Amino acid sequence: MKYITFALAKGRLAMNTLALLEKIGITCEEMKDKSSRKLIFVNEELKLKFFLSKASDVPTYVEYGAADIGVVGKDTILEEGRKLYEVLDLNMGKCRMCVAGPESAKELLQHHEMIRVASKYPHIAKDYFYNKKHQTVEIIKLNGSVELAPIVGLSEVIVDIVETGSTLRENGLQVLEEICPLSARVVVNQVSMKMENERISKIINELRKVIETN
Ligand code: PRP
Repeated sequence: MKYITFALAKGRLAMNTLALLEKIGITCEEMKDKSSRKLIFVNEELKLKFFLSKASDVPTYVEYGAADIGVVGKDTILEEGRKLYEVLDLNMGKCRMCVAGPESAKELLQHHEMIRVASKYPHIAKDYFYNKKHQTVEIIKLNGSVELAPIVGLSEVIVDIVETGSTLRENGLQVLEEICPLSARVVVNQVSMKMENERISKIINELRKVIETN
């Protein structure tokens, strides 16, 4: 029997995913060791493999079939725009993709001014401003601590993830527009879905049951 391979976004999401998989009888003890630097784990009995990758690479591994199944945030799925099937919302890691900035930026948004938008998610930002709002903006790609940008004058607004809102609040910024809700999703390679339909569907359906009763 072929292995079914899971790509998990390393960090808290991977740990929460493992806890969820345990509830449907899928275990991987060695992966729980947080001090380990190992990246790939095997469950010989169930013919499953798991590997940990950077979140933004999960859709890539799944599109190319290096992983059959991936677990990753909707933000990453949207940003990467890979060809894959999104099959299940895990309802974990719920947050929102937002346009945020100082109060004074409200006007600039309303009047469709040519503004600068800083984001770790340039594709999401571009899609939102160009295709949804029909507003021409300049998008500046950053790699983190995006809240700094409007404070130091790099951009008028940011497009970023808001969970509790405390990062914005503590930096004198606020949500100006909501782009979309986010949460962790299960994605599947399009060929694997056909070739291994029985095994993959079983896993997805069992996960769905666990989530619904939670
Ligand atoms: C994320 C996000 C916000 C913050 C939102 O950043 O980019 O900065 O969390 O959470 P809150 O609404 O609960 O304050 P992350 O911690 O991933 O760091 P980074 O911005 O440096 O990537």
